[in-house]
Amino acid sequence: MNQSNNPVIRFSRLRSLWFLAIVYVSIPSLACAGSEGPKLGKPATNQEISAWNMTVFPDGRGLPSGHGKASEGKQVYERLCVSCHGVNGLGGSSEELAGAKHSLTDPNPDKTIGSYWPYATTLFDFVRRSMPPDSPGSLSNDQVYAVCAYLLHLNGITPESADINASGLSQIRMPNKEGFVRIDEPE
Ligand code: HEC
Repeated sequence: MNQSNNPVIRFSRLRSLWFLAIVYVSIPSLACAGSEGPKLGKPATNQEISAWNMTVFPDGRGLPSGHGKASEGKQVYERLCVSCHGVNGLGGSSEELAGAKHSLTDPNPDKTIGSYWPYATTLFDFVRRSMPPDSPGSLSNDQVYAVCAYLLHLNGITPESADINASGLSQIRMPNKEGFVRIDEPE
């Protein structure tokens, strides 16, 4: 049988041609990659970096300007949060945020903001970056401060009239602040 008519040999020749074609196309672009980079994207501007870099530290570093009261936060909560977290933060399809009845040592502990969270500043960070889950980042800084003021008030931590801002939030001492054991400290 004529070998060049053998379909298996024809296929492997075809494959070799493809291989050569790919090498031919890739070598110049690899050479370019060395000199000019892969040309993927562009360097981020300072403005773009600061839009993503929204970490709030426990001591309050990173908190933006703005402020809000519980009465304003209640409106935000009832419009955007109550469907999942329930009336007065008592829990619905999602976490309970207030109203703990069982302590953390109870077999069924209530891990609310008041009974569990060590820092009030984390509340701002968490809500701003992730809530409500279908449009994270959509709340203004004032709305986030206001909803924090409302949730802290529901937990009995701040008075209803408190106008919460960066320095006020950083100064709040949460009830469970000492309830965490640092793993990097010797016993
Ligand atoms: C569609 C349902 C939904 C809506 C609406 C919603 N949340 Fe949540 N929320 C969740 C879920 C689910 C979690 C748990 C997420 C996780 O653990 O990562 C959560 C977690 C939280 C937590 C952390 C609770 C904890 O102790 O771990 C806070 C605080 C919170 N949400 C606040 C809000 C606020 C404020 C709003 C309104 C602006 C809101 N959520 C709207 C579903 C929702």
